[in-house]
Amino acid sequence: MSDWKKAPRDGASRNENTLSQPLKEHRVFNNHKVLSQGWYPLVDSKKLKKGQAKSYKLLDQRLALYRGEDKKVRAMDAFCPHMGADLGNGEVIENKLRCYFHQWEFSGDGSVQKVPALEKPPCGVKVQSYPVQEKYGQIWVYSGVEADHDVPVAPGLEEYDADALYVKEITLFAHHHVLMAGGIDLNHFATVHNLDMEFNFDVVEDGSEFIWELEGELPDNGFKARIGKWFLGPKFRYQMKFSGGSVTAITYGYKQKFKGVGKELPSLHILWGAIPQENGVSKVKIFLLTKKRKGLMGKLKNIGLYLSTFGLLTILRDEDAKAFPNMRFQTGHLVKGDESVARLVQCLNKLPISPWYSKQVRKKDSRQVEVWN
Ligand code: FES
Ligand SMILES: [Fe+2]
Repeated sequence: MSDWKKAPRDGASRNENTLSQPLKEHRVFNNHKVLSQGWYPLVDSKKLKKGQAKSYKLLDQRLALYRGEDKKVRAMDAFCPHMGADLGNGEVIENKLRCYFHQWEFSGDGSVQKVPALEKPPCGVKVQSYPVQEKYGQIWVYSGVEADHDVPVAPGLEEYDADALYVKEITLFAHHHVLMAGGIDLNHFATVHNLDMEFNFDVVEDGSEFIWELEGELPDNGFKARIGKWFLGPKFRYQMKFSGGSVTAITYGYKQKFKGVGKELPSLHILWGAIPQENGVSKVKIFLLTKKRKGLMGKLKNIGLYLSTFGLLTILRDEDAKAFPNMRFQTGHLVKGDESVARLVQCLNKLPISPWYSKQVRKKDSRQVEVWN
């Protein structure tokens, strides 16, 4: 047996074998040098209390976040436009943020409200603010000026209030797009999960969200396939949603009936929110989702669904785990059955890149020093 658990886990493989096996770098897919415009689960909601300001980094963008008296969280570029102090070290005054250094005050949209030495704040000076949403117990920040979608829910839950259970944060020793691709890599079902299935897939593209609908014929051989067939009938269906290049959600058992003909079974939902790191790994937060259900019976049902989802997640994760250490994901020779992965790469490469990483950085004349009075 190979000792794969001891393989180095450092995310460095993208810099290895660069001459003998040059890596084809994609515009967005699997590219640690850019951040796509999407929602990133920056911090646990509980860690930013009312009246607190803190400084955080999203890849190499420093942001100041604060929670105002109205409990709303705001996010903006961290460096004060006056002399560059980190606004995350500032003080929250009602729903505004005051820089520690010379006490300039900023409203949530980043505009300057007050400068102690001046009667009127200098016009046209502001810091860029970014959309923030709180969901699943996390503060999510959008890596662009305007969000074109909300923090996602899993397919099938769009119409409902979702209940979420935060499982934990893991370190993925690869870019999180590799984890995304794993969910729709149809060839690995047979080789890794011992499920030799023929799959059909359909893709619905909706702005920067892409939904995969997959349907497969369960085989007759293998323990898992036989159990699945007994329970679900001959067909197995699931959906995957990829949002903004940062969030992936899966819905197992979409429109699935007991034994294929009976009562519709409840679906199981998992959502992953990722934050890529400078060293080539990604931190991934895992959530189990279900519909919010009322009453004792509703709560018990949700506990049962969470346990089933967690069991499924554990089986699939353990089987996949050996593929990731030292992997340098590439798309050099995709073959029959890899069409689904190829399509995902194409979709992710179309995503808008965050203004923090776009090449059109506004050029400013650094010699110019203005004094307002
Ligand atoms: S550096 Fe912020 S007010 Fe001076
Ligand atoms: Fe897998």
